[in-house]
Amino acid sequence: MVPVHAACALLSLAPLLVLGVPPIWTQPEQVHLSYPGKCLNLLPLPHVFSFRDTFPPPLLCNANQYPGHMTLGFFFTGVPGSMVVTWTTFNKTESKVEYGLLGGRLFEMSAKGDATLFVDWGEEKRKMFIHRVSLTGLKPAASYAYHCGSDVGWSDVFFFTALNDSTSFSPRFALYGDLGNENPQSLARLQKETQLGMYDVILHIGDFAYDMHEDNARIGDEFMRQIQSIAAYVPYMTCPGNHEATYNFSNYRNRFSMPGNTESLWYSWNLGSAHIISLSTEVYFYLEFGLELLFKQYEWLRKDLEEANKPENRAVRPWIITMGHRPMYCSDDDQDDCTTFDSKVCKRQNPIPPGLEDLFYRYGVDLELWAHEHTYERLWPVYSDKVCNGSKEQPYVNPKAPVHIITGSAGCRERTDRFNPNPKDWSAFRSTDYGYTRMQVVNASHLYLEQVSDDEYGKVIDSIWVVKDKHGFSAWF
Ligand SMILES: *[C@@H]1O[C@H](CO)[C@@H](O)[C@H](O)[C@H]1NC(C)=O
Ligand SMILES: *[C@@H]1O[C@H](CO)[C@@H](O)[C@H](O)[C@H]1NC(C)=O
Ligand SMILES: *[C@@H]1O[C@H](CO)[C@@H](O)[C@H](O)[C@H]1NC(C)=O
Ligand SMILES: *[C@@H]1O[C@H](CO)[C@@H](O)[C@H](O)[C@H]1NC(C)=O
Ligand SMILES: *[C@@H]1O[C@H](CO)[C@@H](O)[C@H](O)[C@H]1NC(C)=O
Ligand SMILES: [Fe+2]
Repeated sequence: MVPVHAACALLSLAPLLVLGVPPIWTQPEQVHLSYPGKCLNLLPLPHVFSFRDTFPPPLLCNANQYPGHMTLGFFFTGVPGSMVVTWTTFNKTESKVEYGLLGGRLFEMSAKGDATLFVDWGEEKRKMFIHRVSLTGLKPAASYAYHCGSDVGWSDVFFFTALNDSTSFSPRFALYGDLGNENPQSLARLQKETQLGMYDVILHIGDFAYDMHEDNARIGDEFMRQIQSIAAYVPYMTCPGNHEATYNFSNYRNRFSMPGNTESLWYSWNLGSAHIISLSTEVYFYLEFGLELLFKQYEWLRKDLEEANKPENRAVRPWIITMGHRPMYCSDDDQDDCTTFDSKVCKRQNPIPPGLEDLFYRYGVDLELWAHEHTYERLWPVYSDKVCNGSKEQPYVNPKAPVHIITGSAGCRERTDRFNPNPKDWSAFRSTDYGYTRMQVVNASHLYLEQVSDDEYGKVIDSIWVVKDKHGFSAWF
């Protein structure tokens, strides 16, 4: 038994012992990377904490837009030599990234950014700080080691390779949608392949966590921790899906840091010979959050496509690739929008509000990436419900319409979907296996796609080359 005076001494020490507990609430977590937009360089980041629900976008074009107003018509591109690091702490701390060339002196350089307070809209009104730091002046194609946080808590050390800004660079992507916190079947394979250096970028085409807002946004936290093993090493580029809709997409808008100033809802960027456009199909479905968003996005898309099609731009970035969550076409046997003729996302027949099929066709979009259906489906080149093969023998050599890929089977608690036994003519290949897609934009004329089955231990179950001697609207004729 402890003598009384000793016990008293211990008790009087107790507050000190409690103070000595490591400050875990200041420990960075949920670290992830993204490519910034070009507006980044025009304005130094405001060094303030902002106590509002919507984060002030760090990538502002001019100070008047601060904070958080969406504006039209900017042409955001990948910024050579920059990268945004985003992470979460539960206490207010500084936002610092210390980094250095891999193999060089660790943490030789440092950059500061700022944090925004995100108050979840659930019952508990949980608070968290989302930190964003832009690294600029990185050496193209060089690898860096970094950690993030502040003097009261640092993350593990991660590494990444800076954007190779050459238009002859041939970037390799992994892409998928519908990856959840529960049953994320493809995650382990994606983690390992990312760690092996197989990808330059990951595209997550909507539907995260199932759902980020659940359990007072703890599911969001847990999901962001799960993907850290991918997203802290390569840029993790996203678009919103229907599972993000709760509380007006607030978890999605607050947690990610995509280019532009739309709170990650729609934006575009460049890599290699591709111009990549990310959009929200959800503006066609959640009209309660504002019909004006649909028109704003449409107008932005039109301007962005116009700009990308200027001869001097299309000459160096001939591939225009879109990614959006809900497909225009699909042959699943659920009653989803894409199973209907002239779906809301297509909308040719009664074009008010305006759909996307005509717009994308008119501006010669080459490839359209979708998810939402928990299956993989490849389409023959299609426009207006009609197959537009390049030729019968080589449908993807100089195709006469955009190519659509639907890849929403990464794995989530809703399992996979079933197909309609009688698909239309445009359906070329279908699989209900869990898996994801790989893509390489090889050069101006060649783009490669393949589908990985996780059920079959990583076997490639489908692949195509899209070959184009010519891009743009005139290529269809
Ligand atoms: C740190 O965060 C925790 C959890 O949100 C909170 O209870 C605590 O009061 C915070 N401490 C400080 C110093 O802000
Ligand atoms: C970027 O990629 C191109 C094309 O593959 C290559 O020639 C070039 O050396 C790369 N740049 C750097 C800095 O490694
Ligand atoms: C939903 O969020 C968007 C993007 O921040 C905003 O423009 C819109 O006004 C919001 N809608 C509602 C109903 O709050
Ligand atoms: C398109 O090409 C594929 C592959 O050769 C072929 O099976 C299909 O019948 C073609 N469709 C049309 C309408 O020509
Ligand atoms: C583009 O890549 C393809 C496939 O690797 C190759 O056959 C072709 O020669 C390349 N074209 C040019 C212009 O380098
Ligand atoms: Fe979905």
